[in-house]
Amino acid sequence: MEKRKVALITGVTGQDGSYLAELLLEKGYDVHGTIRRSSVDFRERIAHLEGKPNFHLHYADLGDSMSIIGVIAKVKPTEIYNLAAQSHVQVSFDSPEFTADVDATGVLRVLEAVRLLGLTETCRIYQASTSELYGKVEEVPQNENTPFHPYSPYAVAKQYGFWIVKEYREAYNMFCCSGILFNHESERRGETFVTRKITLAAARIKQGKQDKLYLGNLGSLRDWGYAKDYVECMWLILQNEKPEDFVIATGIQHSVREFCYHAFKRVGIELEFHGEGIDEKGIDKATGNVLVEVSPDFFRPTDVVNLWGDPTKAKAKLGWNPNKTSFEELVNIMVDNDMAKVAAEDASQKVRTNLAEYLEKGIVK
Ligand code: NAP
Ligand code: GDD
Repeated sequence: MEKRKVALITGVTGQDGSYLAELLLEKGYDVHGTIRRSSVDFRERIAHLEGKPNFHLHYADLGDSMSIIGVIAKVKPTEIYNLAAQSHVQVSFDSPEFTADVDATGVLRVLEAVRLLGLTETCRIYQASTSELYGKVEEVPQNENTPFHPYSPYAVAKQYGFWIVKEYREAYNMFCCSGILFNHESERRGETFVTRKITLAAARIKQGKQDKLYLGNLGSLRDWGYAKDYVECMWLILQNEKPEDFVIATGIQHSVREFCYHAFKRVGIELEFHGEGIDEKGIDKATGNVLVEVSPDFFRPTDVVNLWGDPTKAKAKLGWNPNKTSFEELVNIMVDNDMAKVAAEDASQKVRTNLAEYLEKGIVK
């Protein structure tokens, strides 16, 4: 009989969850995802998958052990991808306890459910870990041996997740591993992460629907990849012979300022940056208009400013190509998507338009 291929994705409604669900369906898996009750049913990223015969949704919350045990007992997955998290670093300063409950204890709940249900031999577990663990970085670039120095409530919670996965692997011989993923973006990225905020603003400014873009630290450096390429790695990590942790990154670093420059260039606006710190401005070279300004509203109490990953191990052991989509291609994909999205916006999408306005004014971070 053919080996069962049943995946459970927590956080299936998120950026990564939606791409991973598509990938696993293509690979012939039965895909189960967890969703949360919300007052508005907003499942835009997976709407195209709902109704497919091999795609199933279940209510569960990482803060609720019973729901986690219930769904794992029912589905008996052969692979769990634990992607669910409060994933916004700045929000973790405002909701540190919730972030700890979901991003730290939530991981324990998944591991312990698998163990208590007697599924340790048949179920492999992927944990969505993060380059934020390197935080106030102790070396560049960062690899699997670089010491951690988490620098936000989010990163501290994720560090617990990383270590409890390692502990369950060693204590109970479970096949559970962490992917230490550097930032990955896409046209499905949440609108309050810096890349998407920039691509949406570039599109809105170009189309006369926004005047200015306010950002925080323009000098912050990130290793940005394409989410669609990164979910493939999550799958490869669970197909590996041994359970191991991997750094997933492109190996190339850019600043927030550079991301801005390329995004505006794609819509036909050449920006020049003048000034320093809080006084720095991005100016339209053709008109002299100030389009980008710095607002302290978007500064963090502690900010991670130098992330740069070394994907050597993933290339060698998983055969993964970290440079399938270049930085410029990523920016162009996101900007082209947002140009079309903004052009299609009308009064019926008032809620989303309000979000843009709130983002611009710094009401939502
Ligand atoms: P995302 O778009 O914010 O998605 C997060 C998902 O988690 C959503 O489906 C969300 O559900 C769900 N979720 C939040 N709280 C939950 C709870 N209490 N119980 C159950 N589900 C909950 O994040 P992403 O960018 O796809 O990232 C996926 C994972 O990778 C996260 O764990 C993130 O921390 C980690 N990560 C991301 C990156 C990156 O650059 N994207 C890099 C490294 C690690 P709702 O839709 O209901 O809110
Ligand atoms: N969000 C945001 N908004 N960030 C800004 C802004 C702004 O207006 N201006 C500057 N930044 C800077 C932040 O201070 C940070 O240094 C950098 O841009 C990236 O911020 P985010 O896009 O919010 O992502 P992140 O790096 O904090 O976190 C993302 O990547 C992690 C992996 O390194 C999230 O996806 C995390 O879940 C993930 O673990």
